[in-house]
Amino acid sequence: MKAEKTKVLSEIIKNRRTRKPSKFLPKPVPSSLIKELIDSARHAPNHHRTEPARFYLLNSSKIQEVGNLFGEVLAGDGSNPTLLQKGQRKKKEWGEAPGLLIVTCHTDRESALVQNRPAIIDEDYATTSCICQNLCLLFEAEGLACKWSTGAVWEHPQFSKTIQMKDPNCERVVALLFYGYSDQPLGQRSLSPLADHLISNY
Ligand SMILES: Cc1cc2nc3c(=O)[nH]c(=O)nc-3n(C[C@H](O)[C@H](O)[C@H](O)COP(=O)(O)O)c2cc1C
Repeated sequence: MKAEKTKVLSEIIKNRRTRKPSKFLPKPVPSSLIKELIDSARHAPNHHRTEPARFYLLNSSKIQEVGNLFGEVLAGDGSNPTLLQKGQRKKKEWGEAPGLLIVTCHTDRESALVQNRPAIIDEDYATTSCICQNLCLLFEAEGLACKWSTGAVWEHPQFSKTIQMKDPNCERVVALLFYGYSDQPLGQRSLSPLADHLISNY
């Protein structure tokens, strides 16, 4: 018999699904709630206690600016009509999202710690990814839809400045987490059988 907490947590993990920001409801999410969720999500395993995650919680005008930048990245030099169209579509989808939290991983590769232990670069990224998953689960538990995107908006030269990135030389984007209320019904995602991926001596 599984413990009650295990059942609740398993349900949240299994029911979490990526949802389309274009279908989020245009209902604002209180920033105080998101800040609380961020503070809980930070409690992830972290080798050497480096606390690598940085959070950029954007208001609607910043979200629109980031949407514009992504549209420009996708459009490239403007010579390909297909890319131009995709840029327009993503500019609108991103720009109109009710919520966007950008999570970066801060690692100073020149520091003595990292020079001595280069594995920290991957370990910091792993911790930041755990924090992003914590956030996805907390959103799910709170009735908020979420999409983790890695659309390469950071390739735009204005990106760091636009989000007021603190230390662009040491930060890389791990996730753009679009969030919002949604009534999109989505079922569980089926996976390949565990036996295909598990070696167990028990
Ligand atoms: C590191 C990472 C990057 C992702 N980047 C994108 C992305 O750029 N665009 C996108 O549509 N989905 C992105 N996703 C969402 C995945 O496509 C999604 O998790 C996958 O399709 C499985 O669906 P599920 O989340 O509903 O289980 C990303 C997910 C992760 C973990």
